[in-house]
Amino acid sequence: MNARLQPCPPALQHAIAQLDRMLRTFGNRYPDDTSQRLHYQLRQQGEHAPGANVGWTSGFWPGMLWLGYELTGWKHFRDAASVQATDFAHRLEGGIDLDHHDLGFLYLLSNVAADRIARLPGARATALAAADRLLGRFLPGAGVIQAWGKLDNPKERGRVIVDCVMNLPLLHWASATSGDPAYKAAARSHLLRTCDYLVRPDGSTCHTYYFDADTGAPLREVTHQGLADSSCWSRGQAWALYGLVLNHHHLPGLGLLDTAMRVADYFLDHLPPDQIALWDLGLAHDSGEPRDSSANTIAACGLLELANQLPPGAQKQHYAAAGKRLVEALTRHCAGVWPDAGGLLTHGTYHRLANLGVEECTLWGDYYYLEALARLHYGWISYDR
Ligand code: GLY
Repeated sequence: MNARLQPCPPALQHAIAQLDRMLRTFGNRYPDDTSQRLHYQLRQQGEHAPGANVGWTSGFWPGMLWLGYELTGWKHFRDAASVQATDFAHRLEGGIDLDHHDLGFLYLLSNVAADRIARLPGARATALAAADRLLGRFLPGAGVIQAWGKLDNPKERGRVIVDCVMNLPLLHWASATSGDPAYKAAARSHLLRTCDYLVRPDGSTCHTYYFDADTGAPLREVTHQGLADSSCWSRGQAWALYGLVLNHHHLPGLGLLDTAMRVADYFLDHLPPDQIALWDLGLAHDSGEPRDSSANTIAACGLLELANQLPPGAQKQHYAAAGKRLVEALTRHCAGVWPDAGGLLTHGTYHRLANLGVEECTLWGDYYYLEALARLHYGWISYDR
């Protein structure tokens, strides 16, 4: 076992053991977005074979395996993650399910990681090609990256989603790797518009926002997974917090850290006493509505990274303590040991109003829980640096 895991805190030990069980169950096939009755099934989408590499969450599977390898040094984690990185190259070549902004999640955690950790041949070229595809979604007239669908899709044209800030580090990495500033310029423009229109004056965020794709005129807030257009969907708030902090590292002159602190404060101020967010921050704590533990995993990583980027002082200590508190609450209330196909963390909610993945393990929540543990345990650093 890698020295990084010595001595290993019990929460991390359990998470690694659960990941190992998942690998034995799924191998190089992909678990679904969420579990069903706390057991992951093979991912199933349309005409694709069961367990195929489709959807926006499949990158969290190699992401967990790379993290597992970094933590333990176990070769079988590295071997499986390497095979999956190559599989992501095939997905890109085949243009399979790539008409969305989530290319950052998919390719940072598969191929940027493979290049960084294992110098896997071809991984860098694959990740650069994915960044090209993400850059291809930039609408120059609006100065934003369109979230979903083909760029001429009338329903989706000019629509952005707050989650997208998490995908922009792929563009920063591509500029740093290729020397071409175009990727970073697109990220910069998208961030400025996100801060101006998706982050509200009270520090809450809206989920998605329509701009006029040609003129950039701001049109309207619309939720997709939240309680209402004007509410604050918990996971969107967490994506905004963490994404803004990650981008601050690459664009320190934009004031992103100050915005991230307002977003963080709103998130923390709306948590119930047990510190696990309900799925929308506008819900009454005694409403009986489900939690979304995955929002906490993302927020915890964001808070820990926020503390990393702040200068020594009271603010740094405050956000570091908040990040640690969220991780401890997750371990206490949501982590467990389940047989083979169980995940790492329950009480996640994918899309409450569509009754999709409610009170289940989520592949991204499991990933960010492991990342948060790795951050606490040895100061893990993201792959875009
Ligand atoms: N990024 C999609 C979601 O969080 O559900």
